[in-house]
Amino acid sequence: MKTADLVVIGSGPGGYVACLRAAQLGMKVICVESRSTLGGTCLNIGCIPSKALLHSSHLYEELTKHGHDHGFAVSTIKLQLDKMMARKQTIVTKNTRGIEYLFKSNQIEHIHGHGWFDQNSLTNDGRRITSIKQESGSTTQIMSRYVLIATGSTPRELPKLAPFDQSIICSSEDTLSFTTVPKKLAVIGGGVIGLELGTVWHRLGADVEIYEAATTLLPSMDTSLSTFILKHLKKSGIKFHLQATVSSIKTSANQAAVQFKLPDQPTQEANFDKVLISVGRVANTQGLGLTNLTSETLTDPLGRLIVDSQFATKAPGIYAIGDVIQGPMLAHKAEAEGVAVAELLAGQTAYLNYETIPHVVYTWPELAAVGLTLQQLHERKIPVTKSSFSLRGNARAKVWGEDGGFINMYSHAETGQILGAHLASPHASELIAEIGLAMNFQATAEDIYRTCHAHPSVSEAIKEAALGCNHQTLHN
Ligand code: NAI
Repeated sequence: MKTADLVVIGSGPGGYVACLRAAQLGMKVICVESRSTLGGTCLNIGCIPSKALLHSSHLYEELTKHGHDHGFAVSTIKLQLDKMMARKQTIVTKNTRGIEYLFKSNQIEHIHGHGWFDQNSLTNDGRRITSIKQESGSTTQIMSRYVLIATGSTPRELPKLAPFDQSIICSSEDTLSFTTVPKKLAVIGGGVIGLELGTVWHRLGADVEIYEAATTLLPSMDTSLSTFILKHLKKSGIKFHLQATVSSIKTSANQAAVQFKLPDQPTQEANFDKVLISVGRVANTQGLGLTNLTSETLTDPLGRLIVDSQFATKAPGIYAIGDVIQGPMLAHKAEAEGVAVAELLAGQTAYLNYETIPHVVYTWPELAAVGLTLQQLHERKIPVTKSSFSLRGNARAKVWGEDGGFINMYSHAETGQILGAHLASPHASELIAEIGLAMNFQATAEDIYRTCHAHPSVSEAIKEAALGCNHQTLHN
């Protein structure tokens, strides 16, 4: 039997980062991964391929719609989807191989197979045995002091309405690999995945209709962002049905008939050649043999592993991080937890501020948020100063051809401390880091506006929003 200090099940951003940090801190680490490549959903079928397609489709849209504004007299631009997909796959492969390289250079062993626990997983001296079923059918076992479950999540299916069939009824993974541009794409769920992948295929020529059950898109984000993106994407040609109840989806040879109802309207039907179901994700806890670990219930009603502040489950020696535990299902949250749990297991102190985890939607302009929304500030009765800076007053946004966005900043009315920021801006995913850092240092809006920001840059708009929290913006 192999031995290790730490066995990590899952090599996504949570798992692989935990492996790296634990190895740096001197532990012998073995990573168990059922997929043939490392990197989990994020690198293989999530964040990275979707951002590759978002970038390619953005360039395509820029050239086809705005090329003439830049002085490009291009008569036709032919989309070669196979090449776009090949570029996406090259980026994925480079990244997954990068993890292989990092594993090798940190002496982390990687076993390809399905990790699980049998009834005899706890040894007399309190160590854990992880069983690994390999593709060949053989089983390997590893004895370790700690096991970290970082098995991530999978798309939530709507089995009664429309189970995934990988051809017409698609998950986000299927939607990243279409071989032709669908004529009509229905998206069920107007959350992050629905908006990002809906945007990709709309830019490439599909008629996209998004069906959202709630009254707004992105229900957990600040209303300013959900209102903005609805208006913006509607203007671009995506059709939205809010408060929609999708009652049936019937598939035939190459089509799906979607029946839906909007408030105070009769039931309607529309036909599509593809349907993306993007109604959230579920934690991957099936097949781990959790009931073999302890008689206690290890999961919450949503199926996520329950952990304490040290990421320990109720089963001795078993820890968990990332999408498989509570909190936002975000790669960077999983990564931060991966670092923290490795440091804790190595006897160090570790700290993760959940209040300053950024949230990003990679539309164009991008949406990014950190801290509290206005709704949350009101609910908590926190006295707040609101500032909103329109990108119309920012020169760099005009250079990028996108000055319709804004930076909203909320600070404490008495102390000036920044409590939240909500950005609709080109490259908001990059800009939000400054505000997250400021919030981690409990900075005030004055701390930000007294920091000199480069000109011309959209980061100046952050300085302006901070000015607005104190007295007056200069350029609005
Ligand atoms: P989500 O939770 O963001 O959105 C799901 C949406 O579907 C919600 O607006 C909900 O009201 C709606 N919905 C639920 N059931 C419905 C139904 N039957 N009919 C119509 N609408 C319905 O989930 P999504 O977009 O699937 O993303 C899953 C996870 O992946 C999220 O937690 C997200 O944070 C993460 N993710 C993050 C990304 C990023 O950070 N840029 C990118 C992609 C995914």
